[in-house]
Amino acid sequence: MLVSMKTLLQSALKKKYAVPALNVNNMELVQAVFSSANNAKSPVIVQVSPSALEYSDKLIPAMVLEESKRFPKVKFALHLDHGRSFEECKKAISLGFSSVMMDASINYSKKDSHGNHPARKFSDNVRLTKKVAAIAHRKGVSVEGEVGALGGIEDSAKSRVHLADPFEAKEFAEKTGVDALAIAIGTSHGAYKFKSTPKLAFNVLRETRKLVPRIPLVLHGASSVPKPIVQKARKYGLNIGANAKGVPMSQVKKAISLGVCKINIDTDARIAFAAGFLEKAKQDKGSVDLRKYLGAGRSAVEKVYLDKMRAFGSKGKL
Ligand code: G3H
Ligand code: 13P
Ligand code: ZN
Repeated sequence: MLVSMKTLLQSALKKKYAVPALNVNNMELVQAVFSSANNAKSPVIVQVSPSALEYSDKLIPAMVLEESKRFPKVKFALHLDHGRSFEECKKAISLGFSSVMMDASINYSKKDSHGNHPARKFSDNVRLTKKVAAIAHRKGVSVEGEVGALGGIEDSAKSRVHLADPFEAKEFAEKTGVDALAIAIGTSHGAYKFKSTPKLAFNVLRETRKLVPRIPLVLHGASSVPKPIVQKARKYGLNIGANAKGVPMSQVKKAISLGVCKINIDTDARIAFAAGFLEKAKQDKGSVDLRKYLGAGRSAVEKVYLDKMRAFGSKGKL
């Protein structure tokens, strides 16, 4: 059943668990999300990035809504991940999304001398997010905003990372009326999050929680990049470095205990899908039946999703 993200996250906030927010990029991932959520009896946020929308020529949200009919007990939100502009969020709402992220913390229409998108001024972030919240809330659609800046959508864009300021987070939440708030605490997108020991700024999370007790917090860039899956993907030919490093699950769990209610995962599914696909392609000599490889990728991703639902405490919370 399609619900607003606010409904899902307010339950999670009360009961102290986190809802997995899973990026889908193709049919197999859409199927894996619903079958895992159904098996684990877990609520789920199915999220689609602007580049996934472009890649599928807007077919993915329609696929999500269609697949959900087979699993009517699964409560899910259809969420636009990292909306880059007011127009993009408005378009998503017209496509049936029940939730949008207005990522106005950075300016996607500009690039600095390093090729990175620059941070937006706090006041502009507030103004743009508030504008999206006004149209979204009129239609019962939830809104996520972001303060601080994560590592880049591109793995190279680490230079613009800056941690959230808890006082800004409070002002942002009050002025925009967002339903969920992403705060940067040292994670980044992609498979190379840390050069040495992973360390998150739990003090920022603790302070923000104190100042903003009623808004569910969001952790982006939360993939753990599990070593066994990386090793398997490397073994079968994926060009991913042995130095790939994510957020250890123990730190993700600590973030949940400090008030994070939505956890974004994309990279772990991508690596698992590649590992499953490539392993099957290597073993299945002579076959050109793509469905065998895609199906193996889908099964590998289902395992990842089930692990997340267990670890985040959303299992059994339907
Ligand atoms: O937040 C980043 C997500 O992993 C989406 O990445 O723009 O390559 O779909 P993408
Ligand atoms: P990962 O790259 O760590 O999976 O993060 C995904 C994300 O934050 C999507 O918004
Ligand atoms: Zn993200």
